[in-house]
Amino acid sequence: MILRLDRTKVNQLNLITLKQNTYGLKGEITVPGDKSISHRSIMFGSIAKGKTRVTNFLLGDDCLSTISCFRKLGVLIEQNEEEVVIHGKGTEGLQEPKEILDVGNSGTTIRLLAGILSGLHFHSTLIGDSSIGKRPMTRVVTPLREMGAKIDGREDGKYTPLSVRGGDLQSITYRLPVASAQVKSAILFAGLNADGVTKVIEPVATRDHTERMIERFGGEISRQGNEIYVTGGQKLTGTDIHVPGDISSAAFFLVAGCIVPNSYITLKNVGLNPTRTGILEVLQNMGATMEFQKNDADIFEPTATITVSTSDLKGTTIGGNIIPKLIDEIPIIALLATQADGVTIIKDAHELKVKETNRIDTVVSELKKLGADIQATDDGMIIKGGKKLTGAKVDSHGDHRIGMMLAIASQICEGELILENANAIAVSYPSFFLHLNNLAV
Ligand code: S3P
Repeated sequence: MILRLDRTKVNQLNLITLKQNTYGLKGEITVPGDKSISHRSIMFGSIAKGKTRVTNFLLGDDCLSTISCFRKLGVLIEQNEEEVVIHGKGTEGLQEPKEILDVGNSGTTIRLLAGILSGLHFHSTLIGDSSIGKRPMTRVVTPLREMGAKIDGREDGKYTPLSVRGGDLQSITYRLPVASAQVKSAILFAGLNADGVTKVIEPVATRDHTERMIERFGGEISRQGNEIYVTGGQKLTGTDIHVPGDISSAAFFLVAGCIVPNSYITLKNVGLNPTRTGILEVLQNMGATMEFQKNDADIFEPTATITVSTSDLKGTTIGGNIIPKLIDEIPIIALLATQADGVTIIKDAHELKVKETNRIDTVVSELKKLGADIQATDDGMIIKGGKKLTGAKVDSHGDHRIGMMLAIASQICEGELILENANAIAVSYPSFFLHLNNLAV
């Protein structure tokens, strides 16, 4: 079993063999820092004035890409295993980069950064890996152009590489065509630099880490129903941020705890922001045995310790407004559903098609290889539960969440599971195999 999937060892780990766990997963782990919040801590720390100290920062590849981009923009960022310290000088402290800004695999980095760069009077070029090259950028390019930024890119700004020449921005009122926290956040970042009040209308509430962080850095933002208002020209001040554990990473072990026989897992420091807890509602509806111990002290982002144990599960239907609250957890929910009694229907999740991979296709194709009864639909999938899974050669397709879902599947598969492109897991959970190993008894 691999002990650590870090950046130095990543290339040797492209193919790994995992075996069924017949004893159960037992013990306690502290899940790594939240990816969405880690990205934003660097971004706000960089545009604020003064020092920002971030603890429990996620040292995954995506967040390291964000640090690298802001360093290229002239921000002094110190980073070690314990903390990240950002020496912000305000937006006026950001400098025209001499190099291309490479976001790697990170959609959050490119879309939010485009929003920040739109309000700065210089030129920059943004690229990413082959997955980023397939992901839609029009969703941010359209509103940012409307605010006054000059953005170009392949196929008129549909895809990367993107070039941004920022300028004087006008505030806008923008109704999001898709429920996306990345698009909302890009507009809010641009709005902080625009003339007047920018209003964003969400079709469905999405994660609100950007809004919480504006307040944390001393800024003002307000919400009325599904409308969010931010005034341009605000000055933000550096602060201390303790990043809560990522519920999207915890999800893999929450599901493992439910489906691997004889398991009892305690997950410490899990972020419980209500815009992210859809997975817990689904687990509860399906009959999972969980206990919660909330940490009262957390106001900025609530957290709790969660204990989960092997459970009898039943199928469910997941769709509508809950989708943005669990969009990243759908791959692992699909695995959960293969072990439930009855049928699970996942619908209204078209957005899965434009994630790190087309997650309707990759979830369905890889789980089918393990013998699951799963069918793709136009906006989700239908899973008939209760089937025993068997080992096979499967592929993460370079998608961290597909890789982790398959690694958890290996724990219940009869026979060996060979996982190709396991290195993708380092994007959001470099210590994933260490934790899996620690829980295996
Ligand atoms: C994120 C928003 C979501 C999510 C992604 C992180 C964020 O993407 O899937 O992993 O940090 O704002 P969309 O905005 O595309 O829904």
